[in-house]
Amino acid sequence: MKNNSFILKEFLDNAFNLKLHLMEFLSIKECDLDGFLANAKINLANSHPGDSLNDVSDFYTEIVGDRHLADLAAWHITSKEYIADTLKLQHSFSRGIVLDFGGGIGTHALANAMSSNVEHVFFVDINETNRNFVEYRAQELGVEKKLTFCKTIEDTQTSKFNTIICLDVLEHLADPASQIKIFNNFMDSNSIALFNWYFHKGEKNEYPFHIDDIQIVENFFKTLQSTFLEVFHPILITTRAYKKIR
Ligand SMILES: C[S@@+](CC[C@H](N)C(=O)[O-])C[C@H]1O[C@@H](n2cnc3c(N)ncnc32)[C@H](O)[C@@H]1O
Repeated sequence: MKNNSFILKEFLDNAFNLKLHLMEFLSIKECDLDGFLANAKINLANSHPGDSLNDVSDFYTEIVGDRHLADLAAWHITSKEYIADTLKLQHSFSRGIVLDFGGGIGTHALANAMSSNVEHVFFVDINETNRNFVEYRAQELGVEKKLTFCKTIEDTQTSKFNTIICLDVLEHLADPASQIKIFNNFMDSNSIALFNWYFHKGEKNEYPFHIDDIQIVENFFKTLQSTFLEVFHPILITTRAYKKIR
């Protein structure tokens, strides 16, 4: 097991070998990688079908393919100081059995799996490509025994989590209020959940897949405020820590 300073340094140095993992997993040549990453954000936005989408989750299961991998990889590489702060925060709360919901390219799940405070990590993501990529990364990094990969929380066959990580996911869900109620049911009085959200489609509609409906967002905040209590932390980022109040 690695200590937290070492884990952070490995992330800041090379995002846990992210570029190499992308090239190997997606069979991309080194000379094509920078272009693949530079165009990732616009490619993901352009793939969204707009109002014709019947079910929000179809975008992640049927449409995105490996475009979300590229978008998330580009973001974690270009915003590594911000992501490192979320890793610092996660390290100060993570312990025991961890759920990483909507785990993406696996940065947080892999860091948790490297931590001696964490017994096991359930990586849940609706996107099969993401699950396969992070499973591949876990093997390359030698932490595969501490991770299980699932499409839904029910698939984890676990009734309580000590720590729940749900970062930059709630705005991708049709009903984020229902999702945090579900999380609440999987927590006990000592569990901690880390949440952030961005209910905005962007100044230039660069996030057409984000939910921004006023009623949905209001319902989310009412549910959050009636079922969770915020736990203060001193790191200056938008991610918040919560325990359940009922
Ligand atoms: C913006 S990414 C965030 C990834 C990661 N948490 C991070 O901070 O980099 C949103 C992730 O949520 C996943 N996702 C979307 N809807 C989901 C659902 N209903 N259940 C599980 N995962 C979902 C997507 O596949 C994607 O990996």
